[in-house]
Amino acid sequence: MKEQLHALEKEALQKVGDATSLKELQDVRVAYLGKKGPITEVLRGMGKLSKEERPIIGELANKVRGNIADAIDSKKASIEAAELEKQLEEETIDVTLPGRPVPTGGPHLLTSIVEEIEDLFIGMGFEVREGPEVETDYYNFEALNLPKGHPARDMQDSFYITEEILMRTHTSPVQARTMNAMEDKRPVKMICPGKVYRRDTDDATHSHQFTQIEGLYVDKNVRMSDLKGVLDRFAKQMFGQEREIRLRPSFFPFTEPSVEMDISCKVCNGEGCSVCKQTGWIEILGAGMVHPRVLEMAGYDPKVYSGFAFGMGPERIAMLKYGVDDIRHFYTNDIRFLKQYHQA
Ligand code: DAH
Repeated sequence: MKEQLHALEKEALQKVGDATSLKELQDVRVAYLGKKGPITEVLRGMGKLSKEERPIIGELANKVRGNIADAIDSKKASIEAAELEKQLEEETIDVTLPGRPVPTGGPHLLTSIVEEIEDLFIGMGFEVREGPEVETDYYNFEALNLPKGHPARDMQDSFYITEEILMRTHTSPVQARTMNAMEDKRPVKMICPGKVYRRDTDDATHSHQFTQIEGLYVDKNVRMSDLKGVLDRFAKQMFGQEREIRLRPSFFPFTEPSVEMDISCKVCNGEGCSVCKQTGWIEILGAGMVHPRVLEMAGYDPKVYSGFAFGMGPERIAMLKYGVDDIRHFYTNDIRFLKQYHQA
């Protein structure tokens, strides 16, 4: 019986040693230590042994059983440790792997241009103002020296909501609104960017809705030369120091005298090309000295105060600056167009 037990022990330890998984190990445990296993079998046959032999075999059987159980436990621990090790290795995160790029948005080209122009005028002491897009006939026209029936109203085909309310056709009403709001009639130096609306058929250079930036400077002794200086600085900062400006006589009911400002064509440097229609100059904006009637209607005494005003279209400025050939690109949101103007 002794030999039988030793042989069983050897055999079991061998199998424990060979086991490579927890499942195999469990099978060994059931096979050798289970109720139907060979060791239990041996113990069952102890009744047939002599009194002297019984404790010896009993002790040996328990020892063998203990040895096998110990071997299984330690093997179990080592298999578990190896499995954990393997799992850790397989699931290691490589933190050096480059991340996936997160697509981010950026400001629209028009937003960037408006902000650039704002910054430029803020640098010259202007503040930024806003006004409503749904405007009264009074502010959109009348307060700007365009009484009902004035032929110049036809220059700006309008979207009327009622007889007295319309979508503003330009940002000029903000001139009148700003001056009206100044209770103490102190000097005004502001720009106003915003959307404007006209009953136009959309094409490469026209849109029924577009953007304008208005400028107004009212103070004592404001002169045409101040206007020219401010516009010259604007043109050079926006389009390059080598640009020249010229003021041409024009007509706007709210300014007297009125001018249109051209910059020298940067494509041909004034030589004449298709961009400037062979003239060497490109029209950028309208401007002039604020009409005394406009000052008066807003409560400013034209004998004491004078001022200049200007109005420009940022779309046109962006088109010239970046060579965009169709104004509709600003509104159709083709991501391929917009992306070209993101810094990131
Ligand atoms: N409001 C004019 C327009 O929409 C542009 C303009 C011209 C604004 C002359 C001015 C200005 O302030 O002085 O066509």
